[in-house]
Amino acid sequence: MQYRRLGRTDIKVSAICLGTMTWGEQNTEAQAFEQMDYALDHGVNFWDTAEMYAVPPRKETYGRTEEIIGNWFKARGRRDKVVLATKVAGPDERFPYIRDGKPRLNRKHILAAVETSLKRLRTDYIDLYQLHWAERDTNAFGKLGYAPVRTDDGTPLEESLDALAEAVRFGMVRQVGVSNESTWGTMRYLALADAGKGPRMVSIQNAYGLLNRSFEVGLAEVAVRESCGLLAYSPLGMGVLSGKYLDGAEPAGARLTVYKHFKRYRTPSGVEATAAYVKLARDHGLDPAQMALAFVTGRPFVTANIIGATTMEQLRSNIGSAGVTLSAEVLEVIEAIHRLHTYPCP
Ligand SMILES: NC(=O)c1ccc[n+]([C@@H]2O[C@H](COP(=O)([O-])OP(=O)(O)OC[C@H]3O[C@@H](n4cnc5c(N)ncnc54)[C@H](OP(=O)(O)O)[C@@H]3O)[C@@H](O)[C@H]2O)c1
Repeated sequence: MQYRRLGRTDIKVSAICLGTMTWGEQNTEAQAFEQMDYALDHGVNFWDTAEMYAVPPRKETYGRTEEIIGNWFKARGRRDKVVLATKVAGPDERFPYIRDGKPRLNRKHILAAVETSLKRLRTDYIDLYQLHWAERDTNAFGKLGYAPVRTDDGTPLEESLDALAEAVRFGMVRQVGVSNESTWGTMRYLALADAGKGPRMVSIQNAYGLLNRSFEVGLAEVAVRESCGLLAYSPLGMGVLSGKYLDGAEPAGARLTVYKHFKRYRTPSGVEATAAYVKLARDHGLDPAQMALAFVTGRPFVTANIIGATTMEQLRSNIGSAGVTLSAEVLEVIEAIHRLHTYPCP
């Protein structure tokens, strides 16, 4: 396993990060414990969760994933071996059950969210605390273009950063990061920190993978020049890049079979692109999922690749992708496919 610096800090995180959002929904606590044991024993010291999880989000499972991780810390006593990332939810009308029903990135909500996450996680510090998504209109979650509709931008970025600064001062949080953020938002936060107005964002957790390389347009340069690397989420397009949904297949129990409303990685051009990437992998004797993951982990602007798994077989293979290096020939064909199918699933 390779280890990389988180931002400009001395914290070293594994290039593969353990995603957790299926725990408490598709996976039981016992299965999650098995995943955590295996991941840590195989060098994966970086784990990502969120107050909102499990996914798909609902009232009954809100905070459940954090609770499971907290139970593991209590049972195993290995808290200090893990660099733990979690997130505060932004506004979304689907969450009438979060705090006062209108989650915001203001001081009151951020500090309340940190406190409850710490309780659920049974720890007294969070290594990386991320703003899950912005309050203002921006082009995240499947939007490629920018079409703001609201005139109210919500909580000013200055206030959110100030609240994060307070959480850091209290010792509840070590480092801070953004998620589903744009180039503008990330640069604004970095500029505020450089002007002494709060902690510096150390990472950008956005969607990135062969089906969605839009991060490369603006944010990749920010990631490299500002040492604010990408934590790539959904690197397999929710499992699509394994090829298991090709030819209209609906594998039993798989995420997109069970949750039909997940459409981000199911576009017609996404299917065509997937068929091309899967063929490329097979032509070169590679496992399609491992090829897709190795591509992400190998990008110079990536700090960590956040994998997700519902079975131990998937977990072993996905962590194993850290040992796969793609040849120049495979990388060339990937670029050729990308030119034909650019951002099929933004
Ligand atoms: N910041 C955000 O807004 C955000 C959004 C999404 C995710 N995340 C983070 O990123 C993590 C990973 O996201 P993700 O789960 O969407 O990642 P992903 O790698 O795109 O999809 C993972 C899913 O694909 C299937 N899969 C995994 N490995 C496979 C393999 N080798 N062969 C066949 N199928 C395989 C599994 O689902 P099935 O077994 O059900 O098919 C697994 O749960 C999350 O846990 C979370 O921590 C963050």
